[in-house]
Amino acid sequence: MQKLEQIYEGKAKKVFKTDDVKRFIVDYKDDATAFNGEKKGQITGKGVVNNTMSNIIFALLEEKGVPTHFVKQLSERETVVKAVKILPLEVIMRNVSAGSFAKRYGVSEGIDFHEATFELSYKNDELGDPLMCESHALALKVVTKEQLEEVRKYARMVNETLKEFFLERGLRLIDFKIEFGLYDGKVILADEISPDTCRLWDVETGEKMDKDRFRRDLGKIEETYEEVLRRVKGK
Ligand code: TMP
Ligand code: ASP
Repeated sequence: MQKLEQIYEGKAKKVFKTDDVKRFIVDYKDDATAFNGEKKGQITGKGVVNNTMSNIIFALLEEKGVPTHFVKQLSERETVVKAVKILPLEVIMRNVSAGSFAKRYGVSEGIDFHEATFELSYKNDELGDPLMCESHALALKVVTKEQLEEVRKYARMVNETLKEFFLERGLRLIDFKIEFGLYDGKVILADEISPDTCRLWDVETGEKMDKDRFRRDLGKIEETYEEVLRRVKGK
C-alpha cells in the first residue's frame, strides 16, 4: 500500500491518503496538548505507545462485536485504518467522577457511579468542544437517531469491555473519550484509545496513569505511558 498526501493534521496524529480510496494511514506524533491547545508539549515515545495500545484495544473490541476502523499496524507509529468520515462528536463515558465533571458540579474526584454516564461534546476546536445534549445533536443533524442509538450501544460495550480489561491489569478505568466514523454508511469506532483519551488510576496506589500527568504537571509522564503499554501488552 502506498502512502500518499497528508489530508489532515490533528493535535496528536497525521492522516494520509493511500492508493486505496477505502484506506487511510494514521501517523501518531509525540506532540501533546491540553486545554484546547493552550498547553503544548512533547511526550517522548507517546506516539509509539498510543499507536500500539490503541491497536491492541481495537482488536479486542472487534472480537467483542464493536466494529472499528483498525486494519493493520504498519510500523511503530503508523497504522492502516478504514477511511471513515468522522462524526463531529466526542463521546465520553464516566465510571467515576473526575476532570470536567468534578469541576462542573463542584464535587470531588473519585466518586463511584452506580451506572456509567454517557455524554456528548460537539467536536469543534473554535468553540472549545462544547457539551452537547442529544436533541441538539439531532437538531443540527450531527447524527441521525439511528446512528445515535448505535453510538450509545457501542460506547457501553467499549466501557464494559475496557473496565474489565484494565482491571485485570491493575488499572481503574475512570472515564474515556471515543470518536466514531461512518464507513459504508455504518457507524464504526475510530480515532484512538490511549492514555491521552482515558483516565486510568492504579488500583493499588491510586496514582494517575494517564495524560493528567501532563495536564497537571505531575511528572513521570514518559515512564507512565510506557508502564501502561507494558501492562496492556502483558498483564
Ligand atoms: P474531561 O473530564 O476533561 O471532560 O475528560 C473526560 C475524558 O475525556 C478524559 O478521559 C480525557 C478525555 N478527553 C480527551 O480525550 N480529549 C479532550 O479533548 C478532552 C477534553 C478530554
Ligand atoms: N485534546 C485536548 C486539547 O488539546 C486536550 C485534552 O486531552 O485535555 O485541548
